[in-house]
Amino acid sequence: MSQLNASQNPATTRRDPEEEAVHRALEGYYRTGKPPWDTGVTPPELVDLIEGHGALPPGRALELGCGTGTNAIYLARHGWEVAAVDLIDSAVDQAREKAAAAGVAVRVRHGDATRLDDLDVPGPFDLFFDLSCYCGIPLHRRDAYAAGLTHRAAPGALLLMFGYGPETLDNPVSEITSWAAGVTADELRDRFPGWALIDVTPGTNSVPTFWFTLRRDA
Ligand SMILES: C[S@@+](CC[C@H](N)C(=O)[O-])C[C@H]1O[C@@H](n2cnc3c(N)ncnc32)[C@H](O)[C@@H]1O
Repeated sequence: MSQLNASQNPATTRRDPEEEAVHRALEGYYRTGKPPWDTGVTPPELVDLIEGHGALPPGRALELGCGTGTNAIYLARHGWEVAAVDLIDSAVDQAREKAAAAGVAVRVRHGDATRLDDLDVPGPFDLFFDLSCYCGIPLHRRDAYAAGLTHRAAPGALLLMFGYGPETLDNPVSEITSWAAGVTADELRDRFPGWALIDVTPGTNSVPTFWFTLRRDA
């Protein structure tokens, strides 16, 4: 079970109406059983970074929006010291169960990637991984997300992020404006001072998606 209940959790008590709408929608996806994104498959873009030509040496990693933990577990299996955060308690519970079943240590935290100071994830981290979390975060919380990562980044740390472009997400909840905004390279350049956007690779989806790689200044 998650360590904090709703009345104790600072992320719960400080959410505004748009954040509440996002939270309700995400909870709904997990309540239906397996959300559509929960494929259990680690994307080749992450595999390449960890195992490919010029692979990163294992270090400390933080996954933002880890869902049921597929990629956090993958990183731990490859020698990384991993912390992972998700907003939805049932996802966190599943991630902890999957990590235990896999026999790897992953520090899974229930909480908000835009409020990392509320969680025990001090860093510094060499790698941040975000598979479709940031692009769903309300626009007014994204500076806090960037500040949280910047504060915890080792010199030269990488952020590998997958995100949907503008107007590509099926948005059943009109008050969640971020789901139509998606994420763009220009936004990331503005939002992450002290980082360089070093790669933008289109995804293979039928709608515009992107793999972004940012590097924290040394
Ligand atoms: C599209 S899902 C992808 C999940 C996981 N990365 C995967 O690929 O299976 C986005 C995830 O980000 C989480 N999330 C969204 N906003 C978040 C936030 N502010 N803080 C932490 N997690 C968040 C959601 O609960 C969800 O599990």
